[in-house]
Amino acid sequence: MTAKIIDGKGFSQKLRSRIASTVAEIRTSKGIVPGLAVILVGQDPASEVYVRNKAKQTSEVGMESFKYILDADVSEESLLDLIDEVNRNDSIHGLLVQLPLPDHIDSDLVINSISPQKDVDGFHISNVGLLSTGQKAMVPCTPLGCKLMLLDYHGSLSGLNAVVVGRSNIVGKPMANLLLQENCTVTIAHSRTRDLPAVCREADILVAAVGRPNFIKGSWIKPGATVIDVGINRINNPDPAISKPKLVGDVDFDEAKSVAGAITPVPGGVGPMTIACLLANTVTSFCRTEGLPDPNWVEK
Ligand code: GUN
Repeated sequence: MTAKIIDGKGFSQKLRSRIASTVAEIRTSKGIVPGLAVILVGQDPASEVYVRNKAKQTSEVGMESFKYILDADVSEESLLDLIDEVNRNDSIHGLLVQLPLPDHIDSDLVINSISPQKDVDGFHISNVGLLSTGQKAMVPCTPLGCKLMLLDYHGSLSGLNAVVVGRSNIVGKPMANLLLQENCTVTIAHSRTRDLPAVCREADILVAAVGRPNFIKGSWIKPGATVIDVGINRINNPDPAISKPKLVGDVDFDEAKSVAGAITPVPGGVGPMTIACLLANTVTSFCRTEGLPDPNWVEK
């Protein structure tokens, strides 16, 4: 068997073009557009790249982009003041504070000071509670992107066994909640799980979010399963002639592709969906603020 490759890059392009159409309709009917603000503290090169990509894609779909770059030694109080200012700015509908933050800043305090309505990351405790009780939440972008790709591929997920490997607040836990809402039977596995290969082999849907390169082997995968690889790991290129690091997922792709029914590649799978979902969440936030119905991002 050779797995179908789930093309996250192509899927994210289609999603962004639907977002752009929705933004254009909003501009016509309301005379305003949704705005997304990103706050970056310090000069972490990887974070700078993320923030630049976010700003570029925000503008490309016709939304307004706001960028705040603060020095690495900025006080927690100054950061909280800026968040308060953004919370009260009616032109801004989504706010993301790029993580990780420097050690002298309390990340939980910062995240929970973002207005829950503008919390397009879905990290605020109110949104975590709303999601886990099945209420209208802002849903974290990476799990939302995985859900959209799974629904597109399967139609319905009802009754399927889903195993999520990884229990982070950003991916594992919200992913499990979303799969539960889709009527999957959900297992969250992690570093202490006994006989992880056997647990994974039960999965019709396997979501890998552990941050360990090529960790999940082909023999752990149920034949025909759908594999969603959230990992983005930089490793030394196996070809010594290439000095640039190689990007690999948490799943051993070469092994998995001959067992799985469908699989997301790395790069080009889940990654591009995350920013697209951030834009989608910003439009959703705008619609809620304006009393409009939530846009439906699931392709019909
Ligand atoms: N840093 C890396 N990924 C993310 C993300 O999805 N959201 C935020 N806020 N910071 C990140």
